[in-house]
Amino acid sequence: MAVTSSPLQEARAQVLGNHNELSLVALEYRRATEPPGNEKCELRHLQVRCPLQHALITGITGQDGSYLAELLLSKGYEVHGVIRRASTFNTGRIDHIYVDPHTPQARLFLHYGDLSTGSRLIDLIYSIRPDEVYNLGAQSHVMVSFENPEYTGDITALGTTRLLDAIHRSGVTTRFYQASSSEMFGSAPPPQNEQTPFHPRSPYGAAKVYAYWVAINYREAYGMFCSNGVLFNHESPRRGPTFVTRKITRAIAHILAGKQDKLYLGNLEAKRDWGYAPEYVESMWQMLQRERPDDYVVGTGKSHTIREFVTEAFEYAGLDWGKHVSVDDRYKRPAEVDFLLADSKKAERELGWKPRVSFRELVRIMVDGDMESLGLTSPGEGARLLREKFGAWHQWNNCVSDNLKAAEGALLG
Ligand code: NAP
Ligand code: GDD
Repeated sequence: MAVTSSPLQEARAQVLGNHNELSLVALEYRRATEPPGNEKCELRHLQVRCPLQHALITGITGQDGSYLAELLLSKGYEVHGVIRRASTFNTGRIDHIYVDPHTPQARLFLHYGDLSTGSRLIDLIYSIRPDEVYNLGAQSHVMVSFENPEYTGDITALGTTRLLDAIHRSGVTTRFYQASSSEMFGSAPPPQNEQTPFHPRSPYGAAKVYAYWVAINYREAYGMFCSNGVLFNHESPRRGPTFVTRKITRAIAHILAGKQDKLYLGNLEAKRDWGYAPEYVESMWQMLQRERPDDYVVGTGKSHTIREFVTEAFEYAGLDWGKHVSVDDRYKRPAEVDFLLADSKKAERELGWKPRVSFRELVRIMVDGDMESLGLTSPGEGARLLREKFGAWHQWNNCVSDNLKAAEGALLG
């Protein structure tokens, strides 16, 4: 290695050598000094070129975690994910980006852990020393939160405190993203933005309000970089099968395949602001690149009823929904959130974030995804949209473009 006279020069010299060493050198350099002016730019330049940034994602096995991992890998990050031990494999959404950690190119690392256990979170923060932490882990199902309110509070609310406290106690300087939710608005009249007062309507919504405020509290009390993304509903072929959109598109594929005849749903009149999940994880990353931490509402600004989603999806698949869909009161919630509609002007102005996938397009992407995952020939408009309309933007190392197959972990085979 060349003889160098400053930490920055040393970091630069190592660019040509081992990237992992570079990560350490540059990280140490950044910790030791506050690079002024040009040096800061130069260091950032090095970071862009090398797998320098380390991110930790809780909830990496979920819908958003899987897309976020792909996005960060494509940006050169080393990505660490917290996974729960289960007796069956629960990594179907990320199997296609996983490589054996023994290989030198490996940049995705998984660690057992749980938001219920603070000591393990301290271990992870201390050993990984992430530059960015994305807290996506949660008991995220609203109906389940009525059945398991205490557990939901423990993981979705207190889990956030445990993670923030792990960061605070370990003394690691990092940027923290909290997955806040439009469910926090509950019965507040639409449109909802950063100024709208919260009125949650479920234990899940209440837990998210707590987590939102505790993130702000660590920002104010300890000067930590904590940002809340208040995201409205976002869906994809990787959406969990018990959320309403995926329940509908999956049922359509099963009906077409002759494996199911009836689809039972609850309240068809609730309105949701539905967007396309890969676009939303971009906003998470954008929030952590800002100079200062802040809170942002993210959604499309268009709202549709469940009935409209059903109609659009069944018609696209050439089915008459009246013959297949029935209402079962067991899927109705003790308290409902009737109308969510995002006012995302702040995100557009400050992050440059704007949705590109419309409601109609989202429905097509999801129906195609479920049909193809059952081996059926789809109408193909959704797949074509992903291929043509979004071009390079959608090709995070060719990962997201494979999202139809990854919906069922089919890339494994
Ligand atoms: P998801 O698919 O349900 O994923 C939830 C993730 O959390 C999974 O990886 C799950 O692990 C993990 N998890 C659950 N309990 C945990 C625990 N005790 N310890 C550690 N991890 C745990 O949710 P998503 O749709 O990707 O949403 C991501 C986050 O954004 C969630 O916090 C959700 O509440 C929030 N959010 C979502 C939306 C939306 O429309 N999708 C909107 C606003 C906010 P397993 O795979 O092992 O279950
Ligand atoms: N899940 C489900 N199943 N919902 C149904 C059904 C059904 O059979 N029938 C009607 N619905 C209605 C629900 O009552 C609700 O009004 C709407 O469909 C959407 O339900 P979900 O898809 O379960 O999503 P959510 O809006 O309750 O919560 C999702 O979005 C939040 C952001 O607003 C989750 O992803 C949350 O984690 C997220 O925070």
